[in-house]
Amino acid sequence: MDIVPDPIEAYAAAHTTPPTELLAALAEETRATMSAPQMLTGTVEGRFLELLVFGTGARRVLEIGTFTGYSALSMAAALPEGGRIDTCDIEAKHVEVAQRYIDRSPYADRITIHLGPALETIAKLEGTFDLVFIDADKPNYANYYEAVLPRLSARGLIAIDNTLWSGRVLDPQDEHSQAIAALNDAIAVDERVVAVQLTVRDGVTLVRRR
Ligand SMILES: C[S@@+](CC[C@H](N)C(=O)[O-])C[C@H]1O[C@@H](n2cnc3c(N)ncnc32)[C@H](O)[C@@H]1O
Repeated sequence: MDIVPDPIEAYAAAHTTPPTELLAALAEETRATMSAPQMLTGTVEGRFLELLVFGTGARRVLEIGTFTGYSALSMAAALPEGGRIDTCDIEAKHVEVAQRYIDRSPYADRITIHLGPALETIAKLEGTFDLVFIDADKPNYANYYEAVLPRLSARGLIAIDNTLWSGRVLDPQDEHSQAIAALNDAIAVDERVVAVQLTVRDGVTLVRRR
């Protein structure tokens, strides 16, 4: 099931500031060389994340799931002076592409990629986060949520990607769908937080602590 019908998605993309040449090249290489290029956030969600960083003034960003670097580079574009992004991924071949494009961007000094399981990286990182973007392996979503919730800064936000999972959360049959649906249900009644489920792309949930 498409969350947003294709013509509306195309209209939204056409009425969103186009990607930079570098991001367009990154998206093209990802489509040509990666087995699951649809994992890349793309124009609408990339700009959404960029504006989220800009609007909140986030200085310290944690990304769980780098892939080829599209969302990290999108968010880096809006960081204030001194801001930085820690991003993690478990696949060396994803990190290689991401690092190559990060090195070609003006933001190489703002983005650090950590190769390894995200939960280990989160445990090693110090301090609090102004924005956490959760976009990695779905069975671990609840673990990521619990690991980062206590680490949010006073006005910090978590953005969780794919929370509608092509509509499969309505009747979750497989492990990934069930993991996402269970987290959605838990967040909806979690008295520690205020949350909104957005229908951007494949579903994005924004969460803040009370
Ligand atoms: C949906 S993609 C991320 C997309 C990326 N945010 C973008 O916009 O292009 C998910 C990524 O999570 C990574 N991943 C899977 N399991 C992981 C784990 N345990 N720790 C860290 N990264 C993991 C995958 O290798 C994959 O690159």
